[in-house]
Amino acid sequence: MGLVIALNKGRILKECLPLLAACEIEPDEDPEESRKLIFNSRAGNHQLIVTRSADVPTYVENGVADVGITGKDTILEYGEAMGFYELLDLGIGRCRMMTAGPVGVPEPQGVLRVASKFVNITRNYYQQQSRQVALIKLSGAMEIAPLLGLADSIVDIVDTGNTLRANGLEAREMICDISTRLIVNRASLKTKFDQVQNLVSQLKKVV
Ligand code: PRP
Repeated sequence: MGLVIALNKGRILKECLPLLAACEIEPDEDPEESRKLIFNSRAGNHQLIVTRSADVPTYVENGVADVGITGKDTILEYGEAMGFYELLDLGIGRCRMMTAGPVGVPEPQGVLRVASKFVNITRNYYQQQSRQVALIKLSGAMEIAPLLGLADSIVDIVDTGNTLRANGLEAREMICDISTRLIVNRASLKTKFDQVQNLVSQLKKVV
């Protein structure tokens, strides 16, 4: 049995497929075209699972997948994990986790209303700053929240800054750098040691 590899839908999938192909791990169909969610590799008896980003750590933590490729934002948001290790920074998907708010509008005194889909990252950040916040959980398109008066600030990923600019927002505080990481199930690291090591060393050569 080869490795079961959980991949993040969207941007990360697009960027990580060439890296895996360079390691001779290629799905038997194009995951960006197919409606299938589980693919066999053309060689090496591996399986590739394509899932929502937030679910990649869950699959790897529970050992359903041996390895996962997902963003540091997803790993931080997932929180403390006993079931997997983060082994490699793949150097793709580079961006920043930032706070942002309406251009030229100072943050109010007192309790700050912050909207984000990254509620754990947001809570931890403001706790470290000893600032009291009211968290508003959204699933995406956070930029709308300050525009409609639902929140004073948002916490989101910033890459080019185009999304913020297009919505009259500006980046304020930097929370952390983000990039795509390889995570490995703790048990798989022992039971499939050679295969995991092989993948890690091949990926190290191509990143
Ligand atoms: C992310 C993020 C911002 C945007 C930032 O969304 O939530 O909306 O990218 O990129 P920019 O600074 O280059 O404009 P993404 O497109 O990944 O979709 P999502 O809302 O599903 O997370």
